[in-house]
Formats: sequence, structure tokens, C-alpha cells
Amino acid sequence: MRVLVIGSGAREHALLLALAADPAVTALAAAPGNAGTAAVAEHPGLADPLSACSGSLSGATAVVDLARRWRADLVVVGPEAPLVAGVGDALREAGIPCFGPSAEAARIEGSKAFAKDVMAAAGVPTARSEVVDGPAHLDAVLARFDAPWVVKDDGLAAGKGVLVTAEYDDARAHAMAVLEAGHPVLVESFLDGPEVSLFCCVDGTDVVPLLPAQDSKRLGDGDVGPNTGGMGAYAPLPWAPDGLVDDVVATVVRPVAEEMARRGTPFSGLLYAGLALTSTGPQVVEFNCRFGDPETQAVLALLRSSASSLLLATATGRLSAEPAPTWAEGYAVTVVVAAEGYPGAVRTGEVIIGTDGDGVLHAGTRRRDDGAVVSAGGRVLSVVGTGASLEDARADAYRRIDGIRLPGAHWRTDIGLAAVEGRVAVG
Ligand code: GLY
Repeated sequence: MRVLVIGSGAREHALLLALAADPAVTALAAAPGNAGTAAVAEHPGLADPLSACSGSLSGATAVVDLARRWRADLVVVGPEAPLVAGVGDALREAGIPCFGPSAEAARIEGSKAFAKDVMAAAGVPTARSEVVDGPAHLDAVLARFDAPWVVKDDGLAAGKGVLVTAEYDDARAHAMAVLEAGHPVLVESFLDGPEVSLFCCVDGTDVVPLLPAQDSKRLGDGDVGPNTGGMGAYAPLPWAPDGLVDDVVATVVRPVAEEMARRGTPFSGLLYAGLALTSTGPQVVEFNCRFGDPETQAVLALLRSSASSLLLATATGRLSAEPAPTWAEGYAVTVVVAAEGYPGAVRTGEVIIGTDGDGVLHAGTRRRDDGAVVSAGGRVLSVVGTGASLEDARADAYRRIDGIRLPGAHWRTDIGLAAVEGRVAVG
């Protein structure tokens, strides 16, 4: 099978590594890819790579042209923006199997208000929310919620559109900034309890869950500082209540898949349920329409069955005939190495040493003409460790980071630590 992966982050690098380990895959390509993906995949070149990844009609045409030219049997779309823009529809119209939903189904991520509407219709537990589409009603809406306020950009914001704050003025200022950018705002009640990311392959009807994971979205150790795209993750969750995955599939993912199908917009691809395990049970914080980053790097490090078979079965509506995925025993931890300044303006072009070790996945990197690998984004690398225990997997990841040199780099030192120390309390 010839598989083309669209995207340029560590999530796509993880997908490519899982596919490269799969004997059924005869050729792999990444577009646009990064300095690390070049070691496992061809880089056939994509006309207009920026539009293809940021999402536009010309980008969709470029992806279809490339998939035809490269003779892809399956296209896996990593980021949300091209899916929301209709890359999945364009590929399917061209008769090319695509792992990733239609633009209509990708609205589950593309519009928080749409996701709330689907959840209400499907009876899925989630936070109470109100949409604000102009400044006139903002104060009245904020007054109907207690601190801490949860203020979300309704649209795509690369994981940075959410502010959770106990300060009314900060909540108001974030809402105003989102409104001034021309997007509606969602104000939600705060969901207490540990967060879980559950990725499910959904082929319109059938649902196959992967291992549950947890990511760390805040910049600093101890979950302090601004939200980021994600600073690290681990899987599976040693503290998860028995039956958690089955429970979430039954009460959240299946009802949403059924509701999407009932609306005539079945979801086909990766449905990512971001949950809070509250004292009254799991509640949905958000849905995403693609693999999560950086959880994917940890989850796929443990996959032992065929990635291509699972992704193709999802794309072609044959999940009911697909054997359940199998997993390595033990745990995986991924730690994001970020550039100086991240999540604000970052310095790029710094030479990075130690980027070709095992478990070093590239995100914001590029290869200079002289062959040096240099930083090219905020989240530069995802370093993945594995082990029989979560403690061992943590030690493995941080040992691998010791071999990396990037001026000004920073990373969290506590990914998975609360779980190792038994400090994650459910309910
Ligand atoms: N892990 C957060 C995200 O992928 O959006």
C-alpha cells in the first residue's frame, strides 16, 4: 500500500513511523513533511504547501494532484485546517481513499457551537455554554457563569483559543480579542477533574478506540502558564477507572457518530474526544476531527498491529471487519522541546544537535542547504520514551532529551509525573 501523509508536525512524523513499521506499506510519502520525516518517507513536493496545510481550495487541489501523481492508495490528513477546508471531500470525489472527515463532519472541531449542538442532540454530557457573537451581550453572559471562566474561540485556533481564568478582566479581554478577530466566543462552565484524550477511529458507523492518553497543555511544570498546542503527553493512563474507554465509547463517541450520520454528515476519520473526568462522570471538553498532538506520538509508539490496515478500513467504511488494534505492554511518554519564546514569538534558524536519535520526532525543523537541521517553529521536537512502567518511560524520554542541543530550548520536566506519584484524583 502506498500511503501519503499530509502535514509537517511531530504527529505526522509519528504516523509515518507507525506506517513505516507496517509490512503492508510499500511506499510512504510526506507532504510537506519536515527534516525528520525525510528519513522515513519520500518528499515528492507539494504545490502550494502552505495552503495545503492551512486549508484552502487551492490547497485541496494541490493535495489531489499530488495524490494522483504519486499514485497514493491512501491519504492520511494530519492537521485540522485542510479537513475543515474540504481536502477530504476533494480526495474522495477523486476516488482516492482519505483518512479524515468531510468538511461538514470536520465542523465538530471547526465550530465549538456546532459541536455543542451535536452533543445536545445526542445527549452527550458536556459543560453548560453560551455563544456570544458581539460585545453587547458579553458582560451579561460572563455574569451568568462563576469563576473560573472558560472562554473559547468558536473557530480553529491551533489549541490556543481557550482561556481558563479566575480573573474576570482577563476573561473579558480574551473574549473581546476573539470577537475583534471576527469570531464568535463560547463561554462555558468549568469542568473539574483530570483530562483524558480518547482517540477513536470512526468509519461513519463503527467505532474503534485507541489507548487513552493525557496531554499537558500549559507551558510550565505544575500546569502553570499560558495554554500551548501541548507540551507533552503519556499513554495509557494508570489511574483510569476500569471500563473508562468502553464507557466513553458508549456515552460519548457512538452517540455523536450516530447523530452525525442522522444529520447526513457521517464522520469518517479520527474523532478525538477531549474529556474531563468529573465527579459526575466523563464530560466532553472538546472534540477534534484528527489525531491529537502530542498524544499521538505516545499512543502510536505502543501500536503493534497494522496502522495502514486500521486507517484504510476507517477510510473505506470497513471497520467492522478489522481486527482490534494490539498494543505493546507498558507506557509511552512524549515531551515537547520548544523554541525560545514559545508560545509567543520564537527564534528560528538555530542549529539543533542530536535530532536523529531513536524516539526524536521532528515538528518545527528544516534542513539547511549545508545539511544542518535548524529550528523552524515553536514546537521543535517531540521526544518519545517507552518503558514497562510510566516511571521508566519518563526516564527514557528525558534521557533522550539529554542528547539534544538547541540554544534557548525549553521543555516541561513533569510530563506524567503526577500519575507516577499517584496524585491524579478522579471524581
Ligand atoms: N493535544 C491537543 C490537540 O491536539 O489539540
